[in-house]
Amino acid sequence: MRQIILDVDTGIDDALGIMLAVKSGIADIVGITTVSGNISIQTATLNTCKILELIHAQDIPVIQGAVHPVIREPRYEHAVHGVDGLGGALKDMTPSIELRDGFAPDFIIQTVKENPGVITLIMTGPLTNLALAIRKCAELPELVDEVVFMGGAVSVTGNITPAAEFNMFADPEAARIVFQAGFKKLTMVGLDVTSKVLFTDEHIAQLTNPSIKDYVAQSLNDYMDRHARVYDTIRASLLHDPLAVGIALYSGLVTTKAYHVDIETNSRLCDGQTVCDFHNSWEKSPNMDVCIEVDSDAFLKVFIDTLNK
Ligand code: BDR
Ligand code: CA
Repeated sequence: MRQIILDVDTGIDDALGIMLAVKSGIADIVGITTVSGNISIQTATLNTCKILELIHAQDIPVIQGAVHPVIREPRYEHAVHGVDGLGGALKDMTPSIELRDGFAPDFIIQTVKENPGVITLIMTGPLTNLALAIRKCAELPELVDEVVFMGGAVSVTGNITPAAEFNMFADPEAARIVFQAGFKKLTMVGLDVTSKVLFTDEHIAQLTNPSIKDYVAQSLNDYMDRHARVYDTIRASLLHDPLAVGIALYSGLVTTKAYHVDIETNSRLCDGQTVCDFHNSWEKSPNMDVCIEVDSDAFLKVFIDTLNK
């Protein structure tokens, strides 16, 4: 079974990514590490514990990570995820899970060193924890099996600024450290594909587990309204983070192409923008596989079937 660490800033869609990974039954989740992003680190950790409690997975270790980006101040995304990060769902739950002692970057280093060539890292928040781990342990990239991250965009516009996607914008310096670290396999699940996966009220109606269905309907309600308003379209949720989890765990959901990608860290208008060298102008070797096309129906089927297990 694949051994994975999930790194999350639990948020509405991170929560759905956690559910997909746990309920898939095809991944051994050796730990979930949390990071400041959509909400404060404390809230991200609390939400992670709430979700694990909801799906009866209290035995998965949760390790708290970076309080703020590598050099910047945190910039939370309350407008999308709500102040509590879960769109108001599970607000009265007090999870029984006890946090594992330690710091997420150290947990990542230790776990990867103990299992060389084995661990898959699935990152659905800003890349701060991984960047800090690389800074402390230069050989880390050689020891990781693969990294799949949700973030960036190369063929569509941003979602937090006209140029940038949220996870990249929140900590572009961390992203640059990860991009340049030399991972054997690094996969970028950007808005290029995540913006094509629309989860609608019709999909919610297909959920069969009452507690999960109630949670999903409540958590996504404002998020879906906001999508309709901002994009002038139907009520729907973009399943950014669950898609990254799905791509890491299941083959055949996307097509990818190898490119060299860098990120803007010093620009008034374009901070956090991922820049893809489509035509090899920089004459550098590819540093990641960029997801280009997605089989949205196939992913939505996997997602719904898994939540219904
Ligand atoms: C990403 O930003 C966050 O708001 C979501 O949780 C997701 O990881 C989408 O741009
Ligand atoms: Ca996220």
